[in-house]
Amino acid sequence: MKTLIWITSVVLISVMAACTYGPDSPQGFSLPEGDTVKGEQVFMQYQCLSCHALTGYDDPSLLKEFDIPVPLGGTTSVVKTYAQLVTSVINPSHKLAPRNRYIEEKVSNNDGSSKMRKFNDVMTVQELIDLVAFLQPKYDVKPITYTHYGQYRML
Ligand code: HEC
Repeated sequence: MKTLIWITSVVLISVMAACTYGPDSPQGFSLPEGDTVKGEQVFMQYQCLSCHALTGYDDPSLLKEFDIPVPLGGTTSVVKTYAQLVTSVINPSHKLAPRNRYIEEKVSNNDGSSKMRKFNDVMTVQELIDLVAFLQPKYDVKPITYTHYGQYRML
């Protein structure tokens, strides 16, 4: 009996330890639901296509920055979760995709930061929300849990 209690405690403690997350964890991160149509406009307006390729989209009027544009969407990119997708836009150098030296030199600056333009001073939060809503379905990412304000309503 004592052994059983001991084993149960060990299992419980390990499960609880696995559930705790640090302050840097994306756990609990959520944006309100965005408008995909407006997100598409944001994507075109901010000229993401001058460096990126996205299936079904092109803007021949843009000057292309790279010989091989950085593809967006799909399953092969570093973006695997909703939080990573948001991070890619607001903090592009946070996690650069592993790639070969030749491409590496083209897409990163000498200090290793990403050549991706920073939009934080020009893009509104609403635009970011809509942009992410537009881009998310292009990725094979884990679904997000939207904030449903209804649950807070007092009955
Ligand atoms: C000046 C060029 C440039 C522009 C403009 C640009 N990006 Fe990027 N972006 C990059 C580069 C370079 C990377 C790749 C960094 C790496 O992983 O090495 C990147 C990476 C990304 C990623 C992560 C790629 C992935 O799937 O793993 C996302 C998402 C992204 N950009 C979205 C955008 C959006 C949305 C816009 C427009 C608002 C935009 N970018 C505009 C250069 C650019």
